[in-house]
Amino acid sequence: MNLAIIGTGYVGLTTGTCFAEVGHNVVCVDNNAEKVEALLQGRVPIYEPDLEDMIVSNVSAGRLEFTTDLAAAAEKSDIIFIAVPTPPNEDGSVDLSYIEAVSHEIADVLRPEFGYRIVVDKSTVPVSTGSKVAQVISRYAHRGVEVDVVSNPEFLREGSAVSDLMNPDRVVIGADSQRAMDMMKRVYQPFNAPIVEVDLHSAELIKHAANSFLALKISYINAVSAVCEKAGADVELVAQGIGMDKRISRNFLNAGLGYGGSCFPKDVKGFIHISEQLGAPLELLKEVERINAAQLERFLDRIREKLWVLRKKRVAVWGLAFKQNTDDVRESVAVKLIRRLCEEGAHVSAYDPKARENAERELQGYSVNYCDDMYECARGAEVLIVATEWKQFATANLVKVRELMHLPIIFDGRNLLHGENAVHAGFEYHSIGRKSLYPSRD
Ligand code: NAD
Ligand code: UGA
Repeated sequence: MNLAIIGTGYVGLTTGTCFAEVGHNVVCVDNNAEKVEALLQGRVPIYEPDLEDMIVSNVSAGRLEFTTDLAAAAEKSDIIFIAVPTPPNEDGSVDLSYIEAVSHEIADVLRPEFGYRIVVDKSTVPVSTGSKVAQVISRYAHRGVEVDVVSNPEFLREGSAVSDLMNPDRVVIGADSQRAMDMMKRVYQPFNAPIVEVDLHSAELIKHAANSFLALKISYINAVSAVCEKAGADVELVAQGIGMDKRISRNFLNAGLGYGGSCFPKDVKGFIHISEQLGAPLELLKEVERINAAQLERFLDRIREKLWVLRKKRVAVWGLAFKQNTDDVRESVAVKLIRRLCEEGAHVSAYDPKARENAERELQGYSVNYCDDMYECARGAEVLIVATEWKQFATANLVKVRELMHLPIIFDGRNLLHGENAVHAGFEYHSIGRKSLYPSRD
């Protein structure tokens, strides 16, 4: 099929590439000319495992193109996907100005002679947005243009986007027209995934409800981790014990510094706002946010308790990205942690395999010593903090790290390292929701 994707970011670029991979002809449109130019020259603006190779092979097979020209893309595409940002407003509501702008642009460029078109909202939006998009198009498009609007929320995770897209647990399609539903099912037929066929509004709501539930799961285990710390229990064992119940599952029960990223924080806020507007407030989600914020504060308290005054203390931080396998630092807890440490006068060194450039932009004005190597980062430090769950930190040579550091203290904010190994290497090891471990004195 011939598909256009508007917005070539984390979602648009990966989705478009995977659609091309299964045989569709895809044109990715972005109004950021620099980004499009980079892609045309074979430079991929984001880091996502396996993406670059897949882009190269699909471009050379002639199935994937990049352009700023929405009109040309709309003319040759049966289906137009919208994957533009939906950031939060100050009050927590969703900023729909990008969606509104794109709806107008689509209305402007469609012509009756192109034939029937489907406009699909892939961005995460409040329930009823699809009806608003349809209204804009029907108001402003040329007479005789025939369009259906569909909701097809995206569930990919950054860092595993390609494999999530190629093997989805389910595909949600919300359409109020059978013709649109049938065409959308053809788009996804090569993925062999279960398709959830629902009405437009239910599809939109599924996305906010899913992200909020996952955030709730993380906050739940983080709240349990605080109890474990007080009780001398081990949150990893608790997570294992409850997660083996299939009704609960072990996934998304990793205690840590709390959830970050461009989605959970904004989508939980967005869902709270939507529910309030609809007169059915989801108070529960306010507690989810409270627990998430408290997790970092509790961690900082424990570091202060150990190091006393943080001013002039040399702190090494492993990880800047909001999670492993990405260069994305939007709402990264690691970045928030570094801001707090700097504000208290600590001397911070930081290392991340992929996110340095983005973090430097985010932390402008903060004096951070960025390192190209995780061992270099640890040199002379009085404490090492693990802030992001990159695999390479888990397999670090801790004996070497111990030799480089000034004091042997680790705070593992992601329960990533093997505590016994850290102790063997001579460290005292502090983690989340577990007893601290100390080397024996003999
Ligand atoms: P992003 O910021 O990475 O990319 C958005 C792109 O849209 C940018 O390249 C921007 O230049 C482009 N754009 C903006 N206005 C445009 C216009 N008028 N015409 C053409 N291009 C335009 O955003 P993202 O992370 O890909 O998120 C997009 C949407 O998908 C959001 O609603 C988000 O909540 C949702 N989502 C994101 C993820 C994720 O993991 N990042 C996963 C699922 C859903
Ligand atoms: C999340 C969802 O998992 C995707 O399904 C969804 O499509 C996406 O949001 C979105 O709507 O944008 P993403 O934010 O990319 O994906 O990454 P996750 O793997 O969900 O991690 C989010 C945050 O939660 C990270 O900061 C991570 O460190 C944290 N996390 C995750 C935990 O603290 N514990 C866990 O058990 C899992």
